[in-house]
Amino acid sequence: MYQAPRGTQDILPEEQPYLRFVEVKASELCARYGYERIDTPVFEDARLFTRSVGAETDIVAKEMYTFADRGGDELTLRPEGTAPVCRAYLEHGMATRTKPVKLYYITPIFRYDRPQAGRYRQHHQFGFEAIGEADPAIDAEVIDMAWRFYGLLGIGELTLQLNSIGCSACRSTYLDALRSYYAVHLAILCDDCTERQVRNPLRLLDCKRPGCQALAEAAPKSIDYLCPECRAHFEKLTHYLGRLKLPYAVNHRLVRGLDYYTRTVFEVQPLSEGAQSTLGGGGRYDGLIEALGGPPTPALGFATGIERIIINLKKQGVKIPEARRPDVFIAHIGKAAQDEAVALAARLRLSGIGVLQSYGERSLKAQLRQAGSLGVRYALITGDDEVNSGSVIRRDMTTSEQIIVPLADVERSLGAQSG
Ligand code: HAM
Repeated sequence: MYQAPRGTQDILPEEQPYLRFVEVKASELCARYGYERIDTPVFEDARLFTRSVGAETDIVAKEMYTFADRGGDELTLRPEGTAPVCRAYLEHGMATRTKPVKLYYITPIFRYDRPQAGRYRQHHQFGFEAIGEADPAIDAEVIDMAWRFYGLLGIGELTLQLNSIGCSACRSTYLDALRSYYAVHLAILCDDCTERQVRNPLRLLDCKRPGCQALAEAAPKSIDYLCPECRAHFEKLTHYLGRLKLPYAVNHRLVRGLDYYTRTVFEVQPLSEGAQSTLGGGGRYDGLIEALGGPPTPALGFATGIERIIINLKKQGVKIPEARRPDVFIAHIGKAAQDEAVALAARLRLSGIGVLQSYGERSLKAQLRQAGSLGVRYALITGDDEVNSGSVIRRDMTTSEQIIVPLADVERSLGAQSG
């Protein structure tokens, strides 16, 4: 027997209402903040991610699904959504549009991660990107939008973590400070951190091992090393967040797992599990579009994992609208009646009514049992008498009340009663 590949999952019909709920709320949110949808291909040139996400990140170094296609091109299944949106922005000359260009996506993401609860090899993200604006007011707007999304979904008990990791100018001074701090603690670092100290010192701060965490807690803080411009940006941002009354906490260990960030970074985490099960994260990436060959373009965005949202919706008992199901089941007794049933089902569907019908020859009792288990509101029953008289029996499945309805009046009878 075949199984879905490790770390992937089938989204069965009973799970679909959750997905749909998140998608509907996401598009509602985007309409409020003026974002338009974009869809990019599932695979891209591998270099797009190496260049943007960073060769030293876990995503690029360990988690990408990269393959050569039959023509010999190196392609990668999308491991994140920001770089493809920036690629599309450049490719389609969107820089000529009114800025900021605001785009959102709902899309599968592929990462060769170690599968566990809330961590998959294929997951889905809802993300949004605002390209072309440097004003810290838009950082506040993006953070506000991210935070309000969970409110719109009915998910609570979350924290909003904020940090600034500076720009390319002030970052190098900070990284030097971080390296010197860690240099005297090399002996007690875990293996991963020993490597990070050389290759990607920022990531030392979010190691999950207890020994490394204590070190990270006491490490130099990026906000103490910001250049005057980055400092002013951060101060304005926190001023706006105050005006928006957002309950943020500055977390100097928040660095994010992708290299393209500059200045603002933020995450939304559940109160109980914290960073282990981060619901969403984002930040500013003012150098990314230039790194992809475009002009210097300030930009920022956010993305949230849909599977993790669904886990939280369930955990917190949020009520989800049920999927719409057919209202009517047509039962028939005999061949002539089936003929009538087939035509009636098609006619009702054309007028917008959801209809299920019975197949084969079964007792009326069995057909009505099936109608009951399908949860329809009405069963329509047709037999020889009804065919001869041009009518059907309409049975209310809740009250078992039956009335005779002329064929010409069936739509009205269903519509009027179910209205
Ligand atoms: P990220 O933090 O790597 O950011 O991913 C965003 C969210 O996707 C995470 O907070 C988490 O909820 C979910 N997620 C990530 N990996 C997995 C996984 N293996 N299984 C299940 N869920 C997962 C980004 O990808 C950036 N592109 C976000 C961004 C947009 N920054 C600026 N604009």
